[in-house]
Amino acid sequence: MHLTHLSLTNFRNFARLDLDVPRRAVLLVGSNAQGKTSVLEAVYYLATFSSFQTHADRQLVNFLAAANSATVSVARMVGEFQNQTGMHRLEVRIILEPVGVQNGQRVRKEILFDGIKRTAGEVIGQFNAVLYIPQMSQVLEGGPEERRRLLNLALAQVLPGYARALSEYQKTLEQRNALLKLLAERGGDPAQLDFWDASLAETGAQLILWRIQAIQELERLAKRIHLALTRGKEVLRLKYLPAFDPVQANGQMVLQMDVDVDRSGCDLSFIRKGFLDALRRLRSEEIQRGVTTLGPHRDDLRFLAGKMDLGYYGSRGQVRTTLLSLKLAEVAWMKEKTGQWPVVLLDEVMAELDAERRADLLAALSGPEQCLLTTTDEHFFDAGFVHQSTLWSVQSGTVTVRG
Ligand SMILES: Nc1ncnc2c1ncn2[C@@H]1O[C@H](COP(=O)(O)OP(=O)(O)O)[C@@H](O)[C@H]1O
Ligand SMILES: [Mg+2]
Repeated sequence: MHLTHLSLTNFRNFARLDLDVPRRAVLLVGSNAQGKTSVLEAVYYLATFSSFQTHADRQLVNFLAAANSATVSVARMVGEFQNQTGMHRLEVRIILEPVGVQNGQRVRKEILFDGIKRTAGEVIGQFNAVLYIPQMSQVLEGGPEERRRLLNLALAQVLPGYARALSEYQKTLEQRNALLKLLAERGGDPAQLDFWDASLAETGAQLILWRIQAIQELERLAKRIHLALTRGKEVLRLKYLPAFDPVQANGQMVLQMDVDVDRSGCDLSFIRKGFLDALRRLRSEEIQRGVTTLGPHRDDLRFLAGKMDLGYYGSRGQVRTTLLSLKLAEVAWMKEKTGQWPVVLLDEVMAELDAERRADLLAALSGPEQCLLTTTDEHFFDAGFVHQSTLWSVQSGTVTVRG
């Protein structure tokens, strides 16, 4: 798939942007703090309805527009794109509106697909994108929530039903935690948990199964790409560490880092039953703690080179190369699963690589229909590639097309 048109209003430092987007490669060139990354952020938002830069949507609204808290201000992203089913128009509005008297502002999001208001869960997967930004090394080095987020954003774009299952799971989790707390504080019949246990095991098992399969598939692709990027030096492994492990739960003790756990034989009902049994076993302990301790909301994913955990021991370069391998694997995976290329968004990727790897990367980009790449210096790219690309010169929130 590919974007044909992008328009932004009051998005970050763009008061207005309105541009046709060519197929193939777009090079966004400009010095620091001009708005290059923000363009990628906007496109990625159209695919995932979330920003990789911030959890606070209000930060996306141009701050000059948002400064007057007495009026409504709106950041608007509109993407017209072509996918398997034809041409579509996707619009997201982030709306800041005044509430109360104390200059309060509330933030609200609206999504329109082909002119009709929809929920994120209904629209996700229509327009797909994969994003790399160097700051994403946090994914490897930060807490497990970063890695769950990365997984969720990739899986939700590809697996129909994933986004809905995830939000159902979150709701159930909140309800169950509220009940656990109530039982801890005021006592009551623990059998009230039966309903929530069943519901948590139902959606939780589905999420676990999807993650088992996706991580296996991503690992296969990432391993091959990473071997090439490291000239055969590093064997990359993606290690899923599910908080509830259907294999371990059934008595097979394994040393987590050293042994590859084969979960490929686990089917949905097996996972669901194991999860439910585990919740029963932990019931009195969880009531005491007032919180759900097992399940996909506590999962982790580790990245290993051989036996070394890159999140703890990887050098800066190793971490970034791993991230790039993972992102390129995500691109190939999306194509494999959906039959369509996602739009590829790469922020400042060339500066990181030596000449040979730059060439490898450009070769890897010959598949996807469209990629948007940012750079402070177009000379990082070889002349042939620049020649085939459209150059967007980005300066203080305006883009000038340079052919
Ligand atoms: N909500 C906002 N309103 C206005 N400007 C913003 C907002 N958020 C970020 N900016 C500014 O937008 C500029 C562009 O940032 P960025 O896209 O990261 O630039 P680049 O990638 O070209 O270095 C920065 O100067 C940043 O401070
Ligand atoms: Mg940037």
